[in-house]
Amino acid sequence: MTTDAQWVAGLEERARAALPSAVFDYLRQGARDEVTLDRSLTAWREVALYPRTLVDVREVDPAVTLLGRRHPAPIGVAPTTLQRAVHPEGERAMARAVAAADGVLVVSSNAGTPFADIGATGVWWWVQAYLPTERSLAEPMLRRAVAAGAAAVVLTVDTPVVGTKYPRTEQGDVVWDVVDPALLRVNFDTGYEDAPGSEKALDLGPRDIDWLRSVTGLPVVVKGVLRPEDAARATEAGAAAVWVSNHGGRQFDRAPSTAAALPGVVQAVQGRAEVYVDGGVRGGLDVLTALALGADAAFVGRPALYALHEGESGVSRLLAELVAQTVESMRLAGAVSVAATRGLDRS
Ligand code: FNR
Repeated sequence: MTTDAQWVAGLEERARAALPSAVFDYLRQGARDEVTLDRSLTAWREVALYPRTLVDVREVDPAVTLLGRRHPAPIGVAPTTLQRAVHPEGERAMARAVAAADGVLVVSSNAGTPFADIGATGVWWWVQAYLPTERSLAEPMLRRAVAAGAAAVVLTVDTPVVGTKYPRTEQGDVVWDVVDPALLRVNFDTGYEDAPGSEKALDLGPRDIDWLRSVTGLPVVVKGVLRPEDAARATEAGAAAVWVSNHGGRQFDRAPSTAAALPGVVQAVQGRAEVYVDGGVRGGLDVLTALALGADAAFVGRPALYALHEGESGVSRLLAELVAQTVESMRLAGAVSVAATRGLDRS
């Protein structure tokens, strides 16, 4: 019999076997030599946690409040593209599974499914945005997200340019050779890519946080922060949350692991904003480690994509197993709530 933990551990290999090689490679790959990708996967394990003992752990509650909404677990799904290349139901299947778990789904602005269809699943969701040089070109997409019920906007700040990745399939084919462009960016106005100023902005600044808040009326989350002073600047500019991320090792291939960057950011933010983290989170022990280091929630990117190749039920099973592992880890660590996980890395 396959246990749920074995099922989760085998997700990547099953996705590799099931998906066209160029699609799988696109999901898995990191930038350049994959230095950051590799270290992000191992870093969570390097943190030692000192369990509390002589604690009554009969009742363990991993619930958390994120941007004013209570969720049963501190685990969210990070924004990723090409979900319809992974499964025909794509973002809809992902959304239904996250809705059933009462989690939070972050939808990539490059999604291949109309925001209205995602919102119609009833999922609690946030929209992710890259800003273009001519900011106003992003407004129609942002307005569609607001109309479809997005509860926050996540500004990705680690992508002034897209980090170079090398094809690693035997055939050397790349995803854009095999994927229909119609699976991308359906929430933008037609002709967006050809409009002057639609390339990614090279001049992002703290003022963009304010701009996004005024255009959408939503809380702004800044994703891709690794330095404490940048976290402080984002917070002072009005960010409701700072998201420690190296884009899953897909952008700057010398960036630190997020486990290494997280404590400095938590310290700089000083509770003025929420702090999230992603990158290499693969099980409940990683979630517990992120909480111990001060994160309010941990997000998964690739695991959710790999699970999506098995459809909605795959993502549901992944989320249920992550929660079960987190509860077990909290019990073993003697932490009955998210608050009680803080500082487990110090004796
Ligand atoms: C991403 N990521 C991403 N981030 C973002 O802000 N907008 C996006 O459109 C995408 N697209 C995307 C596609 C694919 C295939 C991957 C794997 C990742 C980054 C993502 O949100 C997240 O930061 C990382 O995936 C987290 O690392 P793990 O969980 O994949 O290790």
